[in-house]
Amino acid sequence: MVTGAARGIGRACAVALAQAGADVIVGLRDDRAGGDVVERIAELGREAFPVKMDVAELAEIESAVRAGIGRFGRIDILVNNAGIGAPNKAEDVNEADFDATLRVNLKGTFFTAQAVGREMIRRKSGAIVNVASQAGFVALETESVYCMTKAAVAHLTKCLALEWARHNIRVNAVAPTFIRTPGTEKWLGDEDFRRSVLDRIPLGRVGDPVEVAAPVVFLASPQASMITGATLMIDGGWTIR
Ligand code: NAI
Repeated sequence: MVTGAARGIGRACAVALAQAGADVIVGLRDDRAGGDVVERIAELGREAFPVKMDVAELAEIESAVRAGIGRFGRIDILVNNAGIGAPNKAEDVNEADFDATLRVNLKGTFFTAQAVGREMIRRKSGAIVNVASQAGFVALETESVYCMTKAAVAHLTKCLALEWARHNIRVNAVAPTFIRTPGTEKWLGDEDFRRSVLDRIPLGRVGDPVEVAAPVVFLASPQASMITGATLMIDGGWTIR
């Protein structure tokens, strides 16, 4: 199961998991706007099962998880990708902005992990990968609320990893730097902003969604069988210094 799978990093994770042999429950905030992900997975010879899943709505999380289990019998892997982060100066953030970001990035991430985790606990098997961010490790200007939620996702990853290790469930996260997606297109299209980002990335470029998806597949796979509670930086070196 991949949340926020219509585009960007979520889409890349869904396709990469299919390439690795998984059938995919494709979580979509708007099930009429799934882009081409379902067709792409079908081309790879795997099954894509689209479900309406706005992770800000607990009832939708629960019904999507139920539907997915109904279709495939189980969920082996959860990629908790859905996330939002509108830039805003701290002095301008209002309660509605604050609540909206926490509702998706924190509440959505937690309760999706819970709904899938309950089923994984019954089977004593599973792997969860949360999409955190380098913004949880370094402060980014005009992103205080987003940064705070992503730091929390990295810590939640440790907490769930500890609680669920006894059920043979591994919980890890990835922390990407700026990745070229529809969500970052506008900012990275601004030459000054792009240059300021590139100045901070030792590898000298922003990332591609597949460069997040490949480590996500690794963390979800048996090749990472002894890794739990980790947040893997995918930051081209941004946080080295
Ligand atoms: P994007 O904005 O291009 O796509 C986000 C996807 O999540 C969309 O398909 C959207 O429909 C979905 N989504 C948003 N709210 C949702 C909700 N309430 N319920 C279900 N789905 C919802 O985003 P992008 O750039 O692909 O980011 C994906 C994740 O990666 C987010 O958690 C983001 O914070 C994280 N991330 C992105 C980075 C980047 O530079 N692109 C860097 C670090 C982390």
